[in-house]
Amino acid sequence: MSKLILFGGKGGVGKTTTSAAVAIWTASQGLNTLVVSSDPAHSLGDSFGRQIGNVPTPIVGVANLWAVEMDPRQTMAKLAPKLTEALANPLKALGIDEELDMSGDDMMLPGLDEALAFDFLLRFVESQDYDIIIFDTAPTGHTLRFLSLPNLTDRWISRMMRFRDQLTKLKSLFIKKKDTGLEVLEQFKRRVEHIRRFLANEKFTSFYIVLIPELLAVEESRRAKTILASYGIPVKGAVVNNIVPENDACRLCQSRHRSQMRHLTAIRKEFAGLQLAEVPVFDTEIHGIESLQLVSAKIMGERQLDIQGKKSLEKEYDAEEGIFHVRLFYPETQKSDLQLKTQGNILNITLYGVTSMVEVPFKVDPKKVQAQFMDDYLNITVQR
Ligand SMILES: Nc1ncnc2c1ncn2[C@@H]1O[C@H](COP(=O)(O)OP(=O)(O)OP(=O)(O)O)[C@@H](O)[C@H]1O
Ligand SMILES: [Mg+2]
Repeated sequence: MSKLILFGGKGGVGKTTTSAAVAIWTASQGLNTLVVSSDPAHSLGDSFGRQIGNVPTPIVGVANLWAVEMDPRQTMAKLAPKLTEALANPLKALGIDEELDMSGDDMMLPGLDEALAFDFLLRFVESQDYDIIIFDTAPTGHTLRFLSLPNLTDRWISRMMRFRDQLTKLKSLFIKKKDTGLEVLEQFKRRVEHIRRFLANEKFTSFYIVLIPELLAVEESRRAKTILASYGIPVKGAVVNNIVPENDACRLCQSRHRSQMRHLTAIRKEFAGLQLAEVPVFDTEIHGIESLQLVSAKIMGERQLDIQGKKSLEKEYDAEEGIFHVRLFYPETQKSDLQLKTQGNILNITLYGVTSMVEVPFKVDPKKVQAQFMDDYLNITVQR
């Protein structure tokens, strides 16, 4: 399982730049890194100066780095056709075959697009292909709206049920059909709850706020911290971007610098005890790998952000002893969440419905496979 790093913050503060720069750094540490963007404007591709597709695309020129731009509509159609149907036609999902105008805003489930984006994201997290996943998020407000989805789904479902009951009385319809659509919604709700638990677990998820030292920035980040905390998601720190350096030769710069310093002092206080990176404003455009490396040196160089990576999968073969070892990062997992299957020389490891295939250098005898959870890791040994 990968570690997940999220950068949230207001529009235009440097979330995409920060995500790309930190990704370059983690990749340089030998960690397989995937950056996921949900921005339809393809800003991540612009930042890297590379074309990025809607499947993980290697970033040419940077080892261990991939990026993917998700297409929310496509994601929705592919991942959740039944859910889409259930939502597009809620009454049908509830067993009513009436043609009704369901186009009102209050019939829509709010936050659904973000929820599907997170679902898409988690499928990468749950695979063993990457050690670190960085999510270039939408502005904080949007991200947060999604987090209240389990409650919203509940309320939405009960509203639809009430609606159905009224309609039933009104038209004295007999509804005998099973609520298959409702089942899909319930399943989806459970999935969202799982995502929320994952986001709230410090072992998996690190949330950072990106901000610019200006008026209201402190209040806004305080508000974001409080709301995130109410969902159980701790903020690990912040990246203060676009800091104007001292410059005696430039009056405008000096005055901006002085006003920023006041806000910066307040931000340092607000984030005391947490990780804080301070990034200057660059006089060139941040575009392409080289300029991102300059940003990355500022964010990570002096270890201002303390990002610790773990290999999500390590394997080793002791040919002499005939023992094959696999070690997978699976914190908070229980044996009941896990399924192990063997097929020839392939070990199929399934967790939360996502299967990873591990190749073993010999044919596996299922009786000679041992699995044990220890210190956030799943250790598997296969005897030849
Ligand atoms: N430290 C910096 N110095 C100079 N330019 C910067 C710096 N940080 C970001 N930029 C530039 O500012 C612009 C906005 O940055 P970015 O796209 O990273 O913001 P964002 O928070 O992702 O925006 P959005 O909310 O629209 O997604 C970009 O053109 C980027 O190159
Ligand atoms: Mg962006």
